[in-house]
Amino acid sequence: MSERLVTMLSQKEIAARVQELGAQIAQEYQDRPVVLVVVLKGSFIFASDLCRAIDKTNLRVDFLGVRSYGEGTETSGVVQITQDLSKPIAGEDVIIVEDIVDTGLTIAHLVDLFRTRQPRSVKVCSLLHKPARARVDVKVDYLGFTIEDKFVVGYGLDFAERYRNLPYIGVIERT
Ligand code: IMP
Ligand code: MG
Repeated sequence: MSERLVTMLSQKEIAARVQELGAQIAQEYQDRPVVLVVVLKGSFIFASDLCRAIDKTNLRVDFLGVRSYGEGTETSGVVQITQDLSKPIAGEDVIIVEDIVDTGLTIAHLVDLFRTRQPRSVKVCSLLHKPARARVDVKVDYLGFTIEDKFVVGYGLDFAERYRNLPYIGVIERT
């Protein structure tokens, strides 16, 4: 069996959309300080492009390690924090940066968890959303692309830890 990668979203399409999201965030927060919470590992590439597209100087970046997947392509529904934020978020305007909202379980859990820490606000920015697989209702405040129900890799997203370094979003086809 051999593998072939089919492009779903090109480098160019992603870059253009990320610029738009960054401009929208800068516009909406104006001179209010913002904390971008990068959900590791999947969103590390998206977040690094997104933060550079947000034209404001009072922005802080923090990282949250999360695990919900084994080696397969189905969520276990159990969200484990593998690395917590480095600072409290009480009173802060927080934007959680995700690679993809699939069943929605991860982001729903993170929003609930963060609310207990009394931030001023919590919003969600996700590069991708697969509404066909939603198991809980989540509001994605800033969304890159809605995609069909296919398992995607690249631009930070993995399959069993591979393909994160692809510069585009692709679908693995087995022939
Ligand atoms: P959830 O099902 O919304 O909880 O998604 C949990 C996590 O699973 C996401 O943050 C991704 O890291 C991962 N994930 C979901 N769908 C895909 C996919 O199509 N490709 C790669 N990772 C995915
Ligand atoms: Mg993720």
